[in-house]
Amino acid sequence: MDEDLIQLVNKLQDTFSNLGGELDMPQLAVVGSQSAGKSSVLENIVGRDFLPRGQGIVTRRPLVLQLIHTPVPEPAPGSPPPTYTEWGQFLHLDKRFTDFNEIRKEIEQETYRVAGQNKGISKLPIHLRIYSPNVLDLTLVDLPGLTKIPVGDQPSDIERQIRGLVIDYISKPNCVILAVSAANVDLANSESLKLARSVDPQGRRTIGILTKLDLMDAGTNALDILTGRVYPLKLGFIGVVNRSQQDINVEKSMADALESETDFFKNHHAYRNIAHKNGTKYLAKTLNQVLLNHIRDKLPDMKARLNTLMGQAQQELNSFGDAAIYGDTNQQGALILRLMTQFARDFVASIEGTNVAIS
Ligand code: GDP
Ligand code: NA
Ligand code: MG
Repeated sequence: MDEDLIQLVNKLQDTFSNLGGELDMPQLAVVGSQSAGKSSVLENIVGRDFLPRGQGIVTRRPLVLQLIHTPVPEPAPGSPPPTYTEWGQFLHLDKRFTDFNEIRKEIEQETYRVAGQNKGISKLPIHLRIYSPNVLDLTLVDLPGLTKIPVGDQPSDIERQIRGLVIDYISKPNCVILAVSAANVDLANSESLKLARSVDPQGRRTIGILTKLDLMDAGTNALDILTGRVYPLKLGFIGVVNRSQQDINVEKSMADALESETDFFKNHHAYRNIAHKNGTKYLAKTLNQVLLNHIRDKLPDMKARLNTLMGQAQQELNSFGDAAIYGDTNQQGALILRLMTQFARDFVASIEGTNVAIS
């Protein structure tokens, strides 16, 4: 995540919580058919390896992933720096995970525990918090894939059940929908776009993500889709190349995968000219922009709240009258109110001067 954005959001959130308000950031949720690459995309956004991924139905419970910005603590004088700065914590378990591979194992265990061994799904979410200096306070939701034909212990109405589960998350107006489609499947059959459209008919909060560009048949490409000529979305389509199953098997690193992805777009004859508008890095940048726009939309509300608070403080100040100036028990309260009023005024000024167009 963009460091400037992290700082801006932290500042806004801190200030608001001091004033009893709240800057609620949007949730991001991935939607798509089974194995379209949803978990892979989410993992790339977070920048860490920790989600179970693979062929067939792997994500069988919603995973509500709360990212929590946590600055690195200053070590006490003379003591060594902290051994870790990022960790995970599940709601269902009182334990701090510093090894992200262990987080993946725990998600798998918890999935088995509630959804069984045999491909069953459950709408009961797994709640995981990731504490890190490198993230924004943001909630990401990984969801089971849309599927049509029941397998294993799945009920006969599995399609309807998963659909309902996904809609519970993506119908919230505060949800940014990452509609994932695999490039080696005809876009006309994309379940993610159909579902996204049903809750966001104007395509205002849907980002189209096209995965598996590396797996398209020779002689075909997705240039028309990526340039918006096939399916209209205000936020557009972004192509990505995630790690293949082979890459996962040989534990290819995230950094190496990012580099291969960049090379793929730069060297592909059809994508060379749009390489700068595709790939995981560009997706992250686009998400930052979406978040900034969201914050910008909230600013008028915040300003109104601050003005109200300022008005109240001023009234109370006035009611203290001379007692506020000449020492008695009210003096302290008056001073606090005066400082708070000044603080609120400064804050409104700083919002107005905020340059939200961070690249
Ligand atoms: P999900 O079921 O939608 O969450 O999909 P996963 O992220 O679990 O990925 C399913 C399988 O597709 C895994 O084996 C991934 O390695 C593979 N995969 C996902 N994205 C890509 C991609 O862009 N290219 C290739 N070659 N494989 C991918
Ligand atoms: Na899968
Ligand atoms: Mg998945």
